[in-house]
Amino acid sequence: MQKNVIGYGSIFHQEDTSHIKNILNPNFIGDYELFYAGRYAIKHVIYSIFEHKSINQIWLPNYYCPYVKNWLEQEFDAIKYYDNDPFDFKDQIDWSLFSTKDLVIANNYWGIKETNIPKGERPIVIEDHSHGWLTKGCIESPADFCIASLRKTIPVPLGGIAWKPLKGNCDIPLKPIKKKRIDSETNPMLKSWDLITNAMNVKANCTNEEEKIAFLLSYSQGETLLRNTLEIVPLLPQHKNVIREELFKDFNSFKRINLTDILKTLEPSKTFKVITSNEKTPFGLLIAFKDWELLTNFKQFLITNMIYPAELWPQNRIAQEYKFLLNIHLDFRYNDKDMEYVAKTINQWTLQQAYINID
Ligand SMILES: Cc1ncc(COP(=O)(O)O)c(C=O)c1O
Repeated sequence: MQKNVIGYGSIFHQEDTSHIKNILNPNFIGDYELFYAGRYAIKHVIYSIFEHKSINQIWLPNYYCPYVKNWLEQEFDAIKYYDNDPFDFKDQIDWSLFSTKDLVIANNYWGIKETNIPKGERPIVIEDHSHGWLTKGCIESPADFCIASLRKTIPVPLGGIAWKPLKGNCDIPLKPIKKKRIDSETNPMLKSWDLITNAMNVKANCTNEEEKIAFLLSYSQGETLLRNTLEIVPLLPQHKNVIREELFKDFNSFKRINLTDILKTLEPSKTFKVITSNEKTPFGLLIAFKDWELLTNFKQFLITNMIYPAELWPQNRIAQEYKFLLNIHLDFRYNDKDMEYVAKTINQWTLQQAYINID
């Protein structure tokens, strides 16, 4: 991959990962099922629960992926939202809001939030580890069920997982996925897989702007199909193998090294705060802002310098002081030279801002 053409960030490209080792203890997971995406994992778990317990309300965090909110609202009527500060990992959920007949989806924000689940009578809890697959909170989760979108952490075109953590003690089983006849010519999920695989291949070999546009187009066509498909399509065996191959690899160890590296060189800023943790591995370099216009200015500056951050998620409105987040990718694709470049670019913006703000 040519970083001077393709830049930094966005989706993974196709890459050999055979040198990356598995984590030492993949046995935390208990029963699990793989899916084409995280949203199907959530849906499947909810229907597994419905078969054994009647549920009054499904509670989602207010600060959550807007596409998933929208997708779940199309499927379930009884959705409500609760507040939980996504940028303060000590802030805990107010469990007094819920009844024992409710179902609560708790989010492991950015891989550094650990949810304290109350003992005794309580609602059913599903924990979402999409931004913290194989982090401490994920491995040690005592939730009743867990789910994760996998394509954010492992280099696969699509992927999701639902599991019953061994540390949980819920007696509702995770039902097996129903087998279905799939028309391989027309099925939207298979098309989505092929389009995103194509995007990853084009990205890996991209040498010019035209190819860059082709990879982005193929990717967004695949993403649109995913957004419009509510049905749970069982994974084809060959696709399941692609996911299994990468599932327990220790991609987080690269993030840890890169983050330690970059934090040493970042200039302090009065404009944003870096969300991080000494003991845990965050999803990336997480930069939170109070002001969306400043975030947009920063984002544009990064893009001009070919760094493509993810914005998570501007549509949500919360009462906290810090409201908006950019994630700069520091995963296994990047090394110390890349970190140097990213830090230098961020520092340039920080110093410019400090200069503008001198009275
Ligand atoms: C926190 C969170 N959970 C679940 C999902 C759903 O994952 P997928 O896109 O694999 O369906 C997303 C999606 O982006 C997400 O951000």
